[in-house]
Amino acid sequence: MSNQNTHVRTATYLADPADVHRVLLLYSGGLDTSVMLKWIQDEYDAEVVALTVNLGQPGEDYEVVKGKARQIGAVDAFVVDAREEFARDYVVPAIRANAIYGLGYPLFTALGRPLIAKLAVQYAREHGCDTIAHGCTGKGNDQVRIESTIATLAPELKVIAPVRSWKMGRDEELAYAREHGIPIKTLPAQGAESAPYSIDDNLWGRSSEGRWIEDLSVAPQDDVFQLVTRPELAPDEPQVIELDFEAGVPVALDGQRLELVELLERVAALGCRHGVGIVDHIEDRIVGLKVRDIYEVPAAAILLPAHAELERLVGTIHQNQFKSALDQKWAYLVYAGLWWEPLRGDLDAYMQAANATVTGRVGVKLFKGSARVVTRESPYAVYDAQLATFSESGGLFSQEASPGFIELWSLQSRMAWQVRNSR
Ligand code: ARG
Repeated sequence: MSNQNTHVRTATYLADPADVHRVLLLYSGGLDTSVMLKWIQDEYDAEVVALTVNLGQPGEDYEVVKGKARQIGAVDAFVVDAREEFARDYVVPAIRANAIYGLGYPLFTALGRPLIAKLAVQYAREHGCDTIAHGCTGKGNDQVRIESTIATLAPELKVIAPVRSWKMGRDEELAYAREHGIPIKTLPAQGAESAPYSIDDNLWGRSSEGRWIEDLSVAPQDDVFQLVTRPELAPDEPQVIELDFEAGVPVALDGQRLELVELLERVAALGCRHGVGIVDHIEDRIVGLKVRDIYEVPAAAILLPAHAELERLVGTIHQNQFKSALDQKWAYLVYAGLWWEPLRGDLDAYMQAANATVTGRVGVKLFKGSARVVTRESPYAVYDAQLATFSESGGLFSQEASPGFIELWSLQSRMAWQVRNSR
């Protein structure tokens, strides 16, 4: 087709159509990647191997997804359950780094992409593919995360991103699917909004974009919330849960030790029940645009503040002030698709060191949309109840020494004030 003539290779890692013979497709089972599965076979005369990665997307039936891939012509279709690796190697470092981008995005998508792309590289190599295909558009951060991962880990592999180049709108894609007998999960009812929300989710959160969300004057509409109970419908009774951390890693819920994935899922379920974790976020994307996302992040909205509170309790004032700057840098690198950047690893080493004493128990009160830390305890707390009360100082310092401290502490500021205000 026209592809050969119109193709412009704007990056070295993009595939020359003539060299595309066997493609590893990152396949979600949705409309875009289903159309891609067929389109790639026809457009490039290539074989397609489909890979679907389970990062804990709630309610997904992976057998159905795999069957669908085969039905549309994949020569092979794989589903990999990467939940444990995701939780251990991506979410835990994010917890240690108190990772939030902007005013409330806990980075679940940004954390998932490098792992998905890493698995794509692994499967592409194992199954003799020369090219990796993904379904990201040209407007988002996800293309950055996926392609920079592939270009970093596998310089020999090439990339195609059909959605970015084929210029089909949703209606054309639906027509293409119908024409080629591609099964479509849900067709909009007559008269309903023609496009669904654009969703991405995993065990650390869920995002919705598109439709009314793009209109900043519209308040969130109920039908967007598929995970978290709306706070006004949440139970009238608050619930206090207890979370145990060891070296910054959550290990138990209400005194019960749990595997990480199960703990994250259980905490998420509690958050959902109490309406916790709804975020309406305007975000500065890496690719210039600002975008509004509606996030449902029930687990992150509980675990991140619990961790941060414990960390502040065991850290000194100097550690605490220093770390927040590094936390921000960590979050930005991850948001920006630079998971494999050595600085991220350097920061991780620091995060791990700083978290060595983040061990203890935090009580969090869940009530109608809020998650508030109400109790904290740690054997490493830099805290002495006796020192904090107005009674005897316990021998570590003398209150009589305070005026001397104040005189020196304020010295430069006082001098500067005088210089500026006396004439
Ligand atoms: N704005 C968020 C981010 O850049 C969420 C992106 C969700 N991705 C998607 N394909 N729907 O990380």
